[in-house]
Amino acid sequence: MCGIVGYAGSAPASEKPLEVCLQGLKRLEYRGYDSAGVALVAPGMNTVVFRKKAGRLSNLVNQIKRTPMPDATVGIGHTRWATNGAPSDVNAHPHISQDGKIALIHNGIIENAQQLKFDLQAEGYSFSSGTDTEVAAKLLGKIANQVIEEKGEPDLFEALRRVSRMLTGAFTLLAVDVRQPQIVVGARHDSPLVVGLGDGENFLGSDVAAFVAYTKQALELGQDEAVCISGTDVTVTDFDGNAVDAKPFTVDWDASASEKGGWDSFMDKEIHEDPEAVKNTLLGRVDLDGRLNLDELHISEDVFRSIDKIIVVACGTASYAGLVAKYAIEHWVRIPVETELASEFRYRDPILTPRTLVVAISQSGETMDTLMALRHAREQGSRVLAICNTQGSSIPRESDAVLYTHAGPEIAVASTKAFLAQITAAYLLGLYLAQVKGTMYRDEISNTLEALAAMPPKIQRVIDTQSDVVKDTARRMVNAHSFLFLGRHVGYPIALEGALKLKEIAYTFTEGFAAGELKHGPIALVDEGEPVVVIVPPARGRNILHAKVMSAIEEVQARGAFTIAVAEEGDENVADVADVVFWRPECPTLMSPLVDVVPLQLFAMDMATLKHYDVDKPRNLAKSVTVE
Ligand code: F6R
Repeated sequence: MCGIVGYAGSAPASEKPLEVCLQGLKRLEYRGYDSAGVALVAPGMNTVVFRKKAGRLSNLVNQIKRTPMPDATVGIGHTRWATNGAPSDVNAHPHISQDGKIALIHNGIIENAQQLKFDLQAEGYSFSSGTDTEVAAKLLGKIANQVIEEKGEPDLFEALRRVSRMLTGAFTLLAVDVRQPQIVVGARHDSPLVVGLGDGENFLGSDVAAFVAYTKQALELGQDEAVCISGTDVTVTDFDGNAVDAKPFTVDWDASASEKGGWDSFMDKEIHEDPEAVKNTLLGRVDLDGRLNLDELHISEDVFRSIDKIIVVACGTASYAGLVAKYAIEHWVRIPVETELASEFRYRDPILTPRTLVVAISQSGETMDTLMALRHAREQGSRVLAICNTQGSSIPRESDAVLYTHAGPEIAVASTKAFLAQITAAYLLGLYLAQVKGTMYRDEISNTLEALAAMPPKIQRVIDTQSDVVKDTARRMVNAHSFLFLGRHVGYPIALEGALKLKEIAYTFTEGFAAGELKHGPIALVDEGEPVVVIVPPARGRNILHAKVMSAIEEVQARGAFTIAVAEEGDENVADVADVVFWRPECPTLMSPLVDVVPLQLFAMDMATLKHYDVDKPRNLAKSVTVE
């Protein structure tokens, strides 16, 4: 949800802390864009200096141009996705202690804020915002003064740990104090925080995007850990103050990967990176002799052999990647695969045993629903394997094994290239299980891997040949009030994904259905001119399925629908029947989601662009959903 950045330098006060905070916020804005703020501290200040403003980061930048900020030694910055209190100047972070000496920023929800607020009010504290964060700021101010009384000197790190022990809910907190102008302190509970290690400077961020322009060396912080950075030191402890060894890692992408380059939007750029995302996710995972090598998983082959059921847990787009995984893994490995929305999983008392493998799919690695689902699975004794795109994030850290997707940073809120990478990783997992369990012959596995390796140019071909017809169709459809999306077999999750993309960025009512369900209700929605998008399976070897989907097209057309088909090149039946066809090259049916989804991603983007919406930052959404 919110984006958080912190900076501590060892040089005398300079413009650097403000520069780093604004740079970091620019890269983190995809996490939330309701308001933004920064706070700076330098030796000699009596109270923290801060600016905050509702709306996009540019509003804050303009405010700082009008009322410049002083040089500083440390700084913190925040970009907000409102959970608690409306998006407004007063609710924007940072929030300040009663005496003005401490500034605090926060991501998450503090569940006992109301009670703490009553207690503080009873002691004479006053509140101007409607946020839980202001409660944490006032509380930290109070506790910091208590620590000074006890120790005779300020210790913001100790004060923050005490405050962290008093809070319930989910939080990442960062704070600065004018009495300790060399440090930034942070704490995390069920919310992300990573440390960036520089030369004579150190960084904090809700993800590595906050500081990747300055350093690629990073530390993962664990659950219930606190950190204190200065220009020269990084100290990590648990909330009781016991020293903790944080795990170092190197960020595997460059700052330029999170920049828009010459593209109109990040979404446009990221759709064009679809082929690369698939290619990079396959890279280095197949031996010279054609055997899949997933040693990185750190789960023994014996354990994999013992798995008799898989449950995929994920949210939104990632859950549709999980649905594709179900079709492929059941076919290749012949064990049952359930795909479940993570938000529903632990509330239905799922049957989990040590032989169940729970696969948590997440681009961000921070989705709270998915994190809670995997914790539940591990508590019940099942093993959890994460398919994730973000190093240093919570979901891989809390899983038994991780298969990283190598899609590179995904900045646009609507997930595109990460979806293709998730499907690719799920195929790799399925083929690996087939290899370990012996459910496929070796040459079948290597042929399938070869077919997979041939997919990136096919995805590229869809982008190269279909962009114009997609754009043209978007122009024709821009005033449509609603859309239906239909698909069968692996086309069904793609119908769901196509509908979600259009809904979230073009704000159009859409429904995705299994095509077979059409006559059980949805067909009642079809009226003259209603656009219906149909994912058509290839006729090769699947004549019955193909024929059934063709009947669905004819049924809706008979009621006046305008049909847009996604179909395999050369499918003459479709060319004769559908009003518009988005063509994709021939490929194995199980891999068709990798090409079928591409025109639907482009279509959603074109529709949103034609309606003059911000395709990268759709209203009410944020990239990383760190609350349940
Ligand atoms: C849709 C979208 C969301 C995410 C979902 C899960 O375009 O981006 O539906 O797929 O919030 O996010 P991750 O994959 O980060 O767990």
